[in-house]
This record gives sequence, C-alpha cells and structure tokens, in this order.
Amino acid sequence: MITIKTYGPKFELKEKERYSTIEKIISDKSGQGNDFLGWLDYASKYSKEDLKKIKDTAKYIKENYEALVVVGIGGSYLGSKAAIDAINGLYPENQFPIYFLGNNLSSNYTHQVLEKISNKHFAVNVISKSGTTTEPAIAFRLLKEMITTKYGKEELSKAIIACTDERKGALRKEADEMGYVTFIIPDDVGGRYSVITPVGLLPMAVAGLDIDEFVQGFIDGEKNYSETYSKNTAYQYGSNRYSLYSKGYKVETYISYEPHLAMLNEWLKQLYGESEGKDGKGLLPTSLVCTTDLHSMGQFVQEGSKVLFETIINIETPKYDVTIKESDNDLDGLNYLAGKKLSYINEQAFRGTLAAHSEVGNVPVNVLTIKELTERSLGELMYFFMRACAFSAYLLNINPFNQPGVEVYKSNMFKLLGKPSKK
Ligand code: PA5
Repeated sequence: MITIKTYGPKFELKEKERYSTIEKIISDKSGQGNDFLGWLDYASKYSKEDLKKIKDTAKYIKENYEALVVVGIGGSYLGSKAAIDAINGLYPENQFPIYFLGNNLSSNYTHQVLEKISNKHFAVNVISKSGTTTEPAIAFRLLKEMITTKYGKEELSKAIIACTDERKGALRKEADEMGYVTFIIPDDVGGRYSVITPVGLLPMAVAGLDIDEFVQGFIDGEKNYSETYSKNTAYQYGSNRYSLYSKGYKVETYISYEPHLAMLNEWLKQLYGESEGKDGKGLLPTSLVCTTDLHSMGQFVQEGSKVLFETIINIETPKYDVTIKESDNDLDGLNYLAGKKLSYINEQAFRGTLAAHSEVGNVPVNVLTIKELTERSLGELMYFFMRACAFSAYLLNINPFNQPGVEVYKSNMFKLLGKPSKK
C-alpha cells in the first residue's frame, strides 16, 4: 500500500459529500467515459497463456535479433519506457538493446536512431491503438524499408510484432495481410492507461523485467485502491489534488529524488494532462528531478508565485548504494561525510527541501512513500495513479478517458501537408 502524508499550509477537503458517489461510479463503471474502464481489472484477467505469449515473444526477439525498436507515441510508449528506466536504471549493464522511435517527428532524432541500428539485425514492436497515428506510421515505414533492403520482404513478418486494435485501423489491416505476430489493445483501455496491456509488457519483458511481478503489482492495486475512501490512499490523493486545485493551486509538480524516474514523471504528465486538461479545467502537471532541479527550479518553488503544489514519490530504500570515503587532505571539506552512504545524504536533501518548501515557502506537499522500487511496487504505483486520476477527474466533472483536444494540431498539420481527405 502506498502511504500518503501532507505537509505545508493546511487546506480543507472539498466536496466530501461527493466521494462515495464517485467511488461507486468508478467501481460499477457507470461514470463518464465508462467504456474505457477496462484497465480497472485488466491485470487480474490475464491468463497464464496470455502472459506466456508475451514472454515467448520477448524470448524469440532476444534469441533471434540484436536489438528491438519500439515504435509508438504517447500512451503507446511512455509506460514501458518509464517502467524500464525505473527498474533497470539509466545505464543498465546487461539490458538487451532497445531503441524508441516514432515518438516525435524530428529528423535529427530519427536519423540518429536509424544510424545506430543500421548495422544491427533488429526486430520492431510497432504499437498504435488507432493504427493511424502519423509519427509511428512514418517511423514504421522507414524501418520496413531498411529491413526489406537488407533482408528482403520475407523478413518483415519475422521481425515485426504489432500491438493494435483487434479489428480496425491501418495497422490491423497491414498486420493481417502481412502475417505479423500481433497483440490486441482492447477497446476499453485508452493509450495512457495501457501500460498493463501488451503495449507495456512486451518491451518490459524484452528489457528483462519480471512482468509477472509487475502484473501482480497491478493486482495489488486493484485490491488496495478499490477500498472505501477512508482506507484508500489513491482516492485520498485524488481528493487532495482536487481540493488544492479548488483553492487556487493550478499546477502540480511531480518530484522524485531518483533520475531514473524522470520518464515516470513524463508518463504522469501524459496521464494527468490528457485526462484532466479539458473544458478549461485541470491541473497543469509538471515535474522535477531532485536534487538536480533544485539548482534550477528550486528558487521558483521556494520563493516564486504560489501557483503550485508538490507530489513527491519517495522511495525509502535504493537498490544500490555508494559510500563516501575519508580523504587524507580533506581539500574539498567533505570528511564530515566520510563513512556515510549517498542514499543517506540524498535523504537529508529530501528532508531539508521538504521543510524548506512546505514550512518556509508555504508550498503544499503530498509525499507518497513506497519501501523499495521493484516491478511489483511499480505496478502498484502506476495503478494507484490511474485510479487517483479517475477519482479527481470525476470530481472535476470531466471525462478522464477522452482527448478531443489533441485533434486540433493534427488537422492543421494535415492541411499543411496536403493530406487527401477520406472518401
Ligand atoms: O492516451 C492516448 O490515448 C494517446 O496519448 C495515445 O496513446 C497516443 O496518441 C498514441 O495513439 P495510438 O496508440 O493510437 O497511435
């Protein structure tokens, strides 16, 4: 169970009388966008065979290829990237090489990834629920061209694994025609809630993560965060953020003291930004990685305009540690730390900053604590945030599961590119 503690200026919980109704519309799936609540109990519905197919495919990729290119954007890549970084760290020793493509339209980025893999025999995991998103579609076309030029057309059906809709979209049509191995993204799970589906699990399995444990973490979440409000820290966090928003705080800043959680911050920004930012409402999700960002944004948080509150992901025990040694001459003046672990120093930075921001800077802070970061606790944490998101979006009277606003840039871009209109 993730614990939650709040610091800083006191605030009142808003609209408490609505909490039980919202708990109910989540659990009986009767709220706005209720046809997208498949993630609520997706984990506990996995069969052994479903998970075996994912693990066998990961094994096939690792045994037959030198690298995997994961093609997808938004919810089709952020969850797996966040999980892989969180568990393996930023410089993993023995991880099977994984490259992410199709998450932007940058020619510089795309060129460099294509160069990097040009001498490698690579497999492709193309992920698109709609099957029509421009960024991954372009990357996919470039990769297919590379594969065909090097190995011939027959290699495509061996090297490509597609995750897409069961019936519709260009990718489904192509996958069926070409005979790619496919995994289904269910109709009732939206992109940013899809980390628990094969969208997240296949790249994680290739990266060596224990996906059974990750699924188990989601199942823990299903149990812990279905509880009634007084026992449900996800709902308590959801109501805190709604109450702070109602009090005038319009920005939520996610903070971690671990750089390998930077992508988890990105996943959170998508989850909350796309779920809540509509109808002229919603908290702006931002993020910091500390202590790095205390040397850039720390000044603003401490003394700048009072627009934000913090949500800190606090991991009590790190996987690795480093000890500071005694130095003969103590030229850097650090001998007072000799014998101390770096995790201890990081913790004091966290505690000192928490007091500075919440007590002196008057910034409200939520601290979410987990004992250690494992596949299982990460699964539970991600589920926690998804459930909390549904709760606070419903408090805002918003449908958390659509994203009508993202179409505007697309239609402008298509006009500029001269995309022919559908017949
Ligand atoms: O959360 C969402 O639904 C979106 O961010 C999508 O994940 C993103 O736009 C990618 O869509 P698709 O998987 O259809 O290519």
